Amino acid sequence: MADGFSAMDFTPAVEAQTRPIWDKVKTRVTPLEWRAQAPLIAAINTLKKQKNAVILAHNYMTPEIFHGVGDFVGDSLGLAREAARSDAAIIVQAGVHFMAETSKVLCPDKTVLIPDLRAGCSLASSITGADVRLIKQRYPGLPVVTYVNTTAEVKAETDVCCTSANAVQVVEHVAREWGVDRVILIPDEFLARNVARQTDVGIIAWKGRCEVHERFDRDDMLELRAAYPGAEILAHPECPTEVLELADFAGSTAAMNDYVIQRKPRQVVLITECSMADNVACDAPDTEFVRPCNLCPHMKRISLENIYEALAGDRFEVTVAAEVAERARLAVQRMIDLPPPAQPARYDLVKARHHVDVELI
Ligand code: 13P
Ligand code: SF4
Repeated sequence: MADGFSAMDFTPAVEAQTRPIWDKVKTRVTPLEWRAQAPLIAAINTLKKQKNAVILAHNYMTPEIFHGVGDFVGDSLGLAREAARSDAAIIVQAGVHFMAETSKVLCPDKTVLIPDLRAGCSLASSITGADVRLIKQRYPGLPVVTYVNTTAEVKAETDVCCTSANAVQVVEHVAREWGVDRVILIPDEFLARNVARQTDVGIIAWKGRCEVHERFDRDDMLELRAAYPGAEILAHPECPTEVLELADFAGSTAAMNDYVIQRKPRQVVLITECSMADNVACDAPDTEFVRPCNLCPHMKRISLENIYEALAGDRFEVTVAAEVAERARLAVQRMIDLPPPAQPARYDLVKARHHVDVELI
């Protein structure tokens, strides 16, 4: 624990400084929790200014992080764009390791810190650079589109990256550019299956899974429909297709956020990681959130305490070998340079154009 950390008090000055944040999160944080969190939030926000640092916070961070210390918040695509634009000296990634690597790849001259090096991802660990090289040998001439939830080593073997917000757009763009009718889309099997139903491009997929989203199934959806007949159900495209088929809407975490903020449903279910609903709920006081959700153990490794320690002690620095970073950057930059889609990707399986089988490697 950093010096002075345990001595932080909930003083009147801290209370006044953090009041706007409290007003935002008070439906999701108890007053007792706030007394411990507010001094840390104040200290982190002061340290950020002193050190010219920014915090990129993913939608799956808990509300006191997301609303309290995040300078830029959003989905994987949004955070990658912000990293590329940032002129801060230090980026603290309040998210998982592959996101910090992406920031480092895009900002090689900045110090990128992750508060806990163990914040991994089941998708990122499902595939290695050597696996991608073998796939390319097996399918010569086909472009490789890789989900950003991968290591820099995997991105270095990739032609273009994608996120759940733009996967259909990227696949169609790459097929057009390369003049091919099939694309390799790895490593998330379910994302690949859900994309395949939205495009004429053939998809070759890998058997990676997100351990949070793969656990939702058709029975969960039927139970929810029966128990909450008026609720609008939004699901993330890392979920199995049978889940998306029974959802009202599917999209990235940013697309789900926009759906709730813009359409103001009376009652909503977010089929995704638990903190997502908490964060949106702080901005959507008139919507009731039904709460079946799964926790991501990797995202939950990040806390106010370790963010403070990261900033105070400049740890843990994320580095990527220059040669790997250079090749990975091309793949991420090609994605960022694509024009933003006219609408956020919507995996509208009710109107799915295709009932296709992807080729699973
Ligand atoms: P998005 O925020 O890009 O939708 O990704 C969700 C996710 O699982 C990130 O780890
Ligand atoms: Fe990886 Fe899933 Fe956790 Fe995102 S939610 S970090 S995809 S395991």
